[in-house]
Formats: sequence, C-alpha cells, structure tokens
Amino acid sequence: MPQKKIILDCDPGHDDAMAILLALGHPDIDVLAITTVVGNQTLDKVTHNAQAITEFAGGKQIPIAAGCPRPLIRNIQNAAEVHGISGLDGTHLPSPTQPLNKRHAVDLIIDTLKSHPPKTVTLVPTAGLTNIALAVRKAPEIVDLVKEVVLMGGGYHTGNRSAVAEFNIAIDPEAAHIVFNERWPLTMVGLDLTHQARPTDKIMADIAALNTPISQFVVDSLSYYTAGYRQRNGTNEHAPVHDPCAVAYVIDPTLITTQKAPVNIELQGALTTGMTVTDFRHPPASDCHTQVATRLDNARLWELFIDSLKRLPN
Ligand code: BDR
Ligand code: CA
Repeated sequence: MPQKKIILDCDPGHDDAMAILLALGHPDIDVLAITTVVGNQTLDKVTHNAQAITEFAGGKQIPIAAGCPRPLIRNIQNAAEVHGISGLDGTHLPSPTQPLNKRHAVDLIIDTLKSHPPKTVTLVPTAGLTNIALAVRKAPEIVDLVKEVVLMGGGYHTGNRSAVAEFNIAIDPEAAHIVFNERWPLTMVGLDLTHQARPTDKIMADIAALNTPISQFVVDSLSYYTAGYRQRNGTNEHAPVHDPCAVAYVIDPTLITTQKAPVNIELQGALTTGMTVTDFRHPPASDCHTQVATRLDNARLWELFIDSLKRLPN
C-alpha cells in the first residue's frame, strides 16, 4: 500500500509531541511537512519543540516551518497550565540543530499541496486553525487539492477551555469558522473521542519497558501531563492524549467510528464562543462534508502507538 501523505500543523505541547512520534514511527505515514502555530505556548516555543522532537525521532529531513504568532482577531491565549512554561515541561530533549524551513508555514502548506497530485495529501491540524484558515484564504484552490482534513479540535457534547468550547477552536474561532465552512471533507476528532484516549498503568509500564531515549521522553512527558490533569481535575485517571487520535484515524480509520453531521462554529455567544455546534437532528444532507469522531478502540490506539515507538531510530 502506498504511504499516506500528511502535513501536520501543530503546537507542541505534550500530546502534539505524541502525534509527531506516532506519525514518524508508523510505516504507513509519510510526513511531508510539519508546521507550527501559536497555541499551547508562544510560536517560538512550540516551533523549537517541534524541531527538537522531530530531530530526536530521526526526522531531520522533514521541513518544519513556523506560522502565525497570534490568532486572526483575538488576543493570544496559551495552555501553560497544561503544558508548562516551555510547552514540554517535565521533558529533556537535545537542542535542535537543523535550520527551520525559510518559508512561512502558510506558504509551506500551499507549496506542498501544489507539488503533489490532487487529493493525495491529508491536512492534520492539532492546534488552533489560524495557519490553515490563512492558507485557504491565500490559495483557495487548495480546497480541491487536499484529500481531507482530519483535525483534533472541538467536541459535540463538551468543552475544556469553557463548558462547551475546546481549546484549539476557542483560541481562534474565526479561523475555525473558515476551515469548517470550506467544502473539503473534514473529520472533527473532538473531545468526545479523545477523552476515550487514555493510557493505563499497564500501557505506561509497557512504554517504559521499551527502555529507549524516546520511550523515556514519552514517559516523562505523559507523567508530567497526567500529574497536572489529576491535580486540576481531582481524579486518579490518566489524562486523555488528544492529538495522536487524529493521526491514528489517518493511519487506520477502523480505529474510530464517525458520524456525518453538519458542524458550525459559534462566534458570538456570551457563554458559548468557540463551540462546535453539531446538528444530529436529521439524517445528513447528501452534500454534508463534515463528520465527527464518536468511538475509539483505545486498546488498539496504544498498540499502534507502541509499535510506532519501537520503529523509531532513537
Ligand atoms: C488540545 O488543546 C491542546 O492543549 C492540546 O495540544 C490539544 O491539541 C486539546 O483540547
Ligand atoms: Ca495541540
């Protein structure tokens, strides 16, 4: 089977780092480019983190470009309470040595899509949608070039930034509005799905037992991430690991059940701005281009993840 080509647009971030490792380690995925956007931390920090994790995992040849340093309209909000001051607190990575790609992320996205046959490249955003929105405004023809958009963001029943809005959508709802309203096939891998994506103590022990520099990084990262989650939420559960779910869906769509439904973004709500309003009332129209992820095979997700870690060079 030919590899599936993806562009990963991210803001590492602990779970973005897991998404990068899954994508780099899985033999069915060809990562054409990694682009970064302000989100979990400032643009400089998430870009540094993307470079560091990619190099650490043997992806030196992959172009990495920095994108937008702030949302389209709103002020910057970050998630330091989740990912720490560096965006990857609790971990230790060697400093990256490779230069950034000279292009802006928006141009790298457009150029990459144009240099591959139409409908062969999947966009996988795991952060605010600022870069993707600007790319489609700058080059509207990419709508017909993209195979599909598989994004981590939103949620049809719950939020995390607010009661009803998820972080990636809440930080730049205008960008999300643009991206959800283009006519490309779009899969929303939202919180309803990603809250099912939790390791267990046994899974953490299996990762630690790999005993490689990469597995040590994963253990450090998820331990920090889960400790904060437990403290904030007063629970003993492991934290949901959101972003790799979008990559996992590209690798093997049978891991995740989806349902077609129209989704739109609330831009004006006093309490609901950034909500991904999903309309399940009727059977979807034949031209409905959006679907939402509903059910995850969590055991298989972690098998896939561990298998990918084993294949990484480090
Ligand atoms: C999303 O928000 C970010 O903090 C995570 O990296 C993930 O992409 C989850 O709501
Ligand atoms: Ca993210």
